[in-house]
Amino acid sequence: MIRIACFASGRGSNFRNIHHHIKEGYLSARIVLFVTNNPSAPALSYAVEQGIPSHVLSVKSIPDSREYVNKMLGLLQSEEVEWIVLAGYMKKIPEAVVDAYRYRIVNIHPALLPFFGGKGMYGMHVHEAVYQSGMQVSGVTVHFVTEEYDEGPIIYQEAVSIRECRSPQEVAEKVLRVEHRVYPQALKLLFERPYRIEGKRVIFH
Ligand code: GAR
Repeated sequence: MIRIACFASGRGSNFRNIHHHIKEGYLSARIVLFVTNNPSAPALSYAVEQGIPSHVLSVKSIPDSREYVNKMLGLLQSEEVEWIVLAGYMKKIPEAVVDAYRYRIVNIHPALLPFFGGKGMYGMHVHEAVYQSGMQVSGVTVHFVTEEYDEGPIIYQEAVSIRECRSPQEVAEKVLRVEHRVYPQALKLLFERPYRIEGKRVIFH
């Protein structure tokens, strides 16, 4: 059974959806750790309710950056975490953690990277930028996390037509429905199919 940690900052619909797919047996994994930077995240209440070992880690609660990183690494190691799954986690993963979990940290981004990504591009900011750009297509990208925001190799991507959307909110709702289908599928691929990484391209065998 693959041991995963989920990190989320807010509502947590992707986190709950992944947990659901595990409970249903679609993903053969176990969530052994939940981490959030936000003590009032609905995702945290859900994790606690479900009995998942949960921790609030933030630079607010731990201002010393070395202590913050060591605490995160310590939790990951003590729970023997193999994969880190980011599900609406809005903070940067510290470099030491990226290094310790090279190509073992996965993120979902609510647009077609490499467009509409980077610092400050998260949640509704992404959908607003996409909507204002006039593009008729957005999408979902599941990718590995590297030291740079939203730049890691792309694992799975799907386009979503937003031609009929009349607000950024409508774009967000349409994209989220696709996220809920795509994230478990992408994780299943990663956990079950052999692959190699060539530059920025992930090639499944
Ligand atoms: C999701 O749309 C996710 O793709 C996005 O935040 C939302 C979280 O919703 N993530 C990012 O923007 C990361 N750059 P959720 O809390 O309901 O899963």
